[in-house]
Amino acid sequence: MQFSVKTGDLTALAADCLVVGVFQNRELTRAAETLNTASGGKVLEAMREDGFSGKSGETQLLLRAPEIAARRVLLVGLGKREELRNFRLEKPFRAAAAKLQACGAKNVVLALNGILGDDEARAAQDIVTAFANAFYRFDACKSKKEEDARAPARVALHATDSSAALRNAIKAGEALAAGMTLTRDLGNLPGNICTPTYLAEQAKAMGKTYENLKVTVLDEKKMEELGMGALLSVSRGSRQPARLIIFEYKGGKATQKPHVLVGKGLTFDAGGISLKPAPAMDEMKFDMCGGASVFGTMKALCEYGAKLNVIGIVPASENLPDGAANKPGDIVTSMSGQTIEILNTDAEGRLILCDALTYAERYKPETVIDIATLTGACVIALGAHATGLLGNDDALIDDLRRAADISGDRVWPLPLWDDYQEQLKSPFADVANVGGREAGTITAACFLARFTKKFRWAHLDVAGTAWTAGANKGATGRPVPLLFQYLLNKA
Ligand code: BES
Ligand code: MN
Ligand code: ZN
Repeated sequence: MQFSVKTGDLTALAADCLVVGVFQNRELTRAAETLNTASGGKVLEAMREDGFSGKSGETQLLLRAPEIAARRVLLVGLGKREELRNFRLEKPFRAAAAKLQACGAKNVVLALNGILGDDEARAAQDIVTAFANAFYRFDACKSKKEEDARAPARVALHATDSSAALRNAIKAGEALAAGMTLTRDLGNLPGNICTPTYLAEQAKAMGKTYENLKVTVLDEKKMEELGMGALLSVSRGSRQPARLIIFEYKGGKATQKPHVLVGKGLTFDAGGISLKPAPAMDEMKFDMCGGASVFGTMKALCEYGAKLNVIGIVPASENLPDGAANKPGDIVTSMSGQTIEILNTDAEGRLILCDALTYAERYKPETVIDIATLTGACVIALGAHATGLLGNDDALIDDLRRAADISGDRVWPLPLWDDYQEQLKSPFADVANVGGREAGTITAACFLARFTKKFRWAHLDVAGTAWTAGANKGATGRPVPLLFQYLLNKA
């Protein structure tokens, strides 16, 4: 899908389909107003006849409207005008995409005028991302590709004028979509294909594609030398060797401190000796979605050419039961020197993250954000709508909340009081890897907090948001929109 900008007379543009927005109660956007006037009121008349009211996600197709050059006009309901925000464009434009697919339009014009008031750039950015996401299909593992997956070849965004800000916004929207697509693809791949080694190879290929992206992969021997006893203990029960993948994106000045992203790349989590129950265990192929979000964010930064320095670190491993696997009661020594009593081998995410977080110290980071499908408790607490947010720095937490408000990729804070640290006490080691049933998301973050004392740090628990279960099972690409927005705010 190629996006471009068009200006001038909307009614004279040749296209298979012209997409215009209408607010609730048939309140016309400026673009819809233009078409209605040109057609002698036929647009409004058609809406009335068909009972189209402009509710968010409603669509109506008009064929060969009088005095309009485009073959079809697709009206898209945007909901109440006063409630519309940029990120709420996703629902209507997903619906529009489905309609465009059904009518096989190849050459589409999308009118921005009046959708978000005068902010055509912001509307463009979010529509580009929403559109690209709406046409996403994962058929890499199907022998026959779905016919209906065809997206329009060309999408022109019609705007008042073709400003630099508008073209830049389109670029940002495309970059974000490319990043999300990568995150979703990696997440959706099954555990037998997407192994730690596979992830490492994908990362290396990215390093070859982008000039200012350097990729380094540490193998188990190297991790042994670094003393990553916690991370390595998890992969010991698997035939797939662990990898530590490191991205170094240089978009800022050499002297500028980097922001570091650390993503859990657990390519399949069976629980280990503390084996998970069978129902829905297949979904544990998504346990690398935090890591995949680091891949996607790095890609978005590269595509956009963001002007700051960002490091991505992805500890990648499987968690399987085996004669060599971690056993409840085992004690391992982390890279930080702290010893850990593994009371539950299924709390493996924190074991691979703690060593990756210690590794992050060497970058003298401005901020560190880890992203992990860490706890089932987070799904119970926040469901599928918000990512859990915890950390040791209020300003960083505020920055992430602001980025969430702008991107619509929502987060919600949980407390990280020292009182909860009590739950992690071990009679035999410095810390236990689990803290009991209560406040599971918080005690998981408390565990990580012991490894993040040397920098400003935030933790995103994406267990509920990284993928959807049910009929539309699949990776969502979250929280790439959040991370991308956060980093652009810093650039
Ligand atoms: N990857 C899981 C967390 C998870 C479970 C995410 C279900 C999404 C859906 C993680 O490794 C895990 O197993 N966590 C345990 C921790 C517990 C043993 C303290 C959990 O949440 O049950
Ligand atoms: Mn687990
Ligand atoms: Zn896990």
